[in-house]
Amino acid sequence: MGTEDIYSGLRASAGAIEEELIALRRKLHSYPELSFEEERTSDAVAEWLNGLGLDAVRRGVGGHGIVAELAGSRPGPRIALRADMDALPIREETGLPYASQVPGVMHACGHDAHTAMLCGAARLLADRRDRLAGSVRFLFQSAEEINAGAKAMIEQGALEGVDEIYGLHNLPTLSAGQAGTRFGALMGSVDQFEVTVTGRGGHGALPEQCVDPVVAASAIVMALQTAVSRELSPFSPAVVTVGSVHGGASYNVIPERVELAGTVRTFSPDVQEQMPDRLARLAGRIAEAYRCTAELHYIRHVPVLLNHDDQVRRVEEAIDAVLGRDNRIEAPPVLAGEDFSVYLGRVPGCFFWLGSGPETGAEQAYGLHHPRYTLNEGCLAKGAALLAAIAIRNEFPDANLHSDNKKRSRS
Ligand code: NI
Repeated sequence: MGTEDIYSGLRASAGAIEEELIALRRKLHSYPELSFEEERTSDAVAEWLNGLGLDAVRRGVGGHGIVAELAGSRPGPRIALRADMDALPIREETGLPYASQVPGVMHACGHDAHTAMLCGAARLLADRRDRLAGSVRFLFQSAEEINAGAKAMIEQGALEGVDEIYGLHNLPTLSAGQAGTRFGALMGSVDQFEVTVTGRGGHGALPEQCVDPVVAASAIVMALQTAVSRELSPFSPAVVTVGSVHGGASYNVIPERVELAGTVRTFSPDVQEQMPDRLARLAGRIAEAYRCTAELHYIRHVPVLLNHDDQVRRVEEAIDAVLGRDNRIEAPPVLAGEDFSVYLGRVPGCFFWLGSGPETGAEQAYGLHHPRYTLNEGCLAKGAALLAAIAIRNEFPDANLHSDNKKRSRS
């Protein structure tokens, strides 16, 4: 059997289970669960996997995570495929018949779809295990939205023995049926910070008796922007956003303190490393100039998502084979984060975008994390086939095993 036959076989098999994948995704969509609470979701995944005759299914890994193992018929590398399972604290406003039945919780990032796609890939690969070299490890992960699930799974051994890892995220601004990734940095680092500015409160009409933290905090908000605009190259993308300012309760009282909270995104590990010191210096010295003190609490979430070259090439080959070269785009970099980056810091791999939007030319879909976010379910079977295709190249570890070498010279 030649390479082309393998890929067309995967496409056909994925098409044959499309209805089941849609049903599974809708079931997950109706019962979204927040980070580290994905109990019912993991039950549904376990139920699906149980029918496939996998070699091992470990539950409760890093929260409600599932690690499942499929061994091929010959030795080879162990390839991990990962999907995230958690939903968001958003009230769904899509009006869909299978909309969330959990008040205030919604699969607004499409992790229900990612989970369904990986279930589909497991089915496609399990059906082909006699022709699979090496093994595939399926990682169903908790708590991506709070940047905690990947670390939790790794701590419990999810990456042990893994040679390469792959994962995807749906993208509603890209048509279903298209996909893409990029070499090097694809997504930004994510950090969080809090600054407590302390002065001395008092009467709003008597500033000479007070030390005003509101004015100091205002100056700090402005100054923090210079950590990017005046200290980094314009060719080195980074963002400092203060998303929360809290202080005072009355129009005529100078408060004792003001609390700022924000996020830092960067596109290079070096820049990420330097940001805590920059923010501490700016906040501390600006506060001092205004006779206040500022205390910085800096929380590192996830590193820059750095794809590995060989694995990017592998994903691009799979996209070309499954979706067609015309449907492969070069993904633009974004500063949004993804805790898949934690895996990529340990083993080589690649993260990629899969289009989940309307067909080209149709009206623009709502974006990720929007209460009206919807997903073109046409992406489910395509994603399942693509994930399976990425893992199944192991089918050809040795050219001598096959007679139709010419067909496979592309790799
Ligand atoms: Ni997401």
